[in-house]
Amino acid sequence: MFQNQQITKDTFYVGVNDRQKNKFENMIPLPCGVSYNSYLIIDQKIALIDTVDISMGDIFIDKIQSQLEGRVLDYLVINHMEPDHSGSIRLIRKYYPDLVIIGNSKTLSMLDGFYGVDTLTKEIKDGEILSLGTHKLEFHFTPMVHWPETMMTYDQTTKVLFSGDAFGSFGTLDGTVMDTNLNVERYWDEMIRYYANIVGKYGAPVQKALQKLTNVDFEIICSTHGPVWKEYVSEVVDIYDQMSRYEGKEGVVIVYGSMYGFTELMAETVAQGVSQAGIKDVIIHNVSKSDSSVILQDIFKYRGLIVGSPTYSNELYPEVESLLRKIEIRGIKNRMFGYFGSFTWAGASVKRLSTFVETMKWETAEISVEEKQGLKADNYQACLDLGRQVAKMVKRPVVKKEHC
Ligand SMILES: Cc1cc2nc3c(=O)[nH]c(=O)nc-3n(C[C@H](O)[C@H](O)[C@H](O)COP(=O)(O)O)c2cc1C
Ligand SMILES: [Fe+2]
Ligand SMILES: [Fe+2]
Repeated sequence: MFQNQQITKDTFYVGVNDRQKNKFENMIPLPCGVSYNSYLIIDQKIALIDTVDISMGDIFIDKIQSQLEGRVLDYLVINHMEPDHSGSIRLIRKYYPDLVIIGNSKTLSMLDGFYGVDTLTKEIKDGEILSLGTHKLEFHFTPMVHWPETMMTYDQTTKVLFSGDAFGSFGTLDGTVMDTNLNVERYWDEMIRYYANIVGKYGAPVQKALQKLTNVDFEIICSTHGPVWKEYVSEVVDIYDQMSRYEGKEGVVIVYGSMYGFTELMAETVAQGVSQAGIKDVIIHNVSKSDSSVILQDIFKYRGLIVGSPTYSNELYPEVESLLRKIEIRGIKNRMFGYFGSFTWAGASVKRLSTFVETMKWETAEISVEEKQGLKADNYQACLDLGRQVAKMVKRPVVKKEHC
């Protein structure tokens, strides 16, 4: 029944859209949904590249069967073992018991550990080639993008790169899967949000993988989430290159926590200073309102960051503390930083922000502002100065760094 979309010669999309799940990894909101992409290559031997989340297993099987018209699957290539892609492996095995599962040594050990599957598997080495007949699949290991077993599969015949999560994005595929047939604008921020939250810690391994890919002559990227990239391949690779170098654009993100508006007023004033110094992209996030996945998306996108917090039980406001942990975990580099805070009887927030930036080793504005109770004229001026100073740092030309 299903008319699967053809990507290129003998290659079909059999992935699914998930419009039900509220939070990816039970943490990251999915306002535009997510797709789990899987692909079939029909040759003398038939290969399936990755599977989908088990919640969509039924429809996935139907799509595969529609395409095979009675033939059986010979191979399942596993590029990544995270369960949003490996979840339907046991189901596939039930339908196709003679199927051989292809993976590297780490993949096969996870396959056994997660699902108890240890028969009819074939371990491949980095650079090894598997022939399906006309199509020749070449395996490229890309460890830690973003798990240890992650690899990519390149079809030499069609120049398609099956990249796993790399180059993926949140957002369902509405009516079509090819970037050539859709308005791609809605995916750029969702790609950065995906990168920042899921891959963000692994800048160095992503750079290594990109380096490795310079020897692979791919023309189409089939990742496991979001559109198939044909027209926008270079844009997508550029986004990954910039993100993994932690190379933000000219712009300043101001994140603050505030219970009664005192710190918020400081944030507004700092923003005014940033704008006065000629920065057009000024993005203010109330940490209690904006989802942290969006805040991280913007922190990856822009190179200026200013954080403000009231003192709360002799600590930072907990929501701000939680965001700082998320930044620390990702080891975000090269940000131009500023900070401010408030208190009523004994300040602690500004002190904590100064130790935070020491661990991040970011360049920091000389001014920081700490106000006791309501914002007064001298600190109003200091907030403007703080904004202007960070803006000036952000506006300095960036020296492009080689790999991190
Ligand atoms: C639950 C709670 C805990 C607080 N703990 C401290 C504290 O330990 N030390 C302090 O000087 N002020 C403390 N304060 C006062 C706030 O830090 C201060 O009033 C601040 O300016 C509030 O800013 P906001 O309106 O942006 O939240 C606390 C306030 C609340 C509501
Ligand atoms: Fe993943
Ligand atoms: Fe994934």
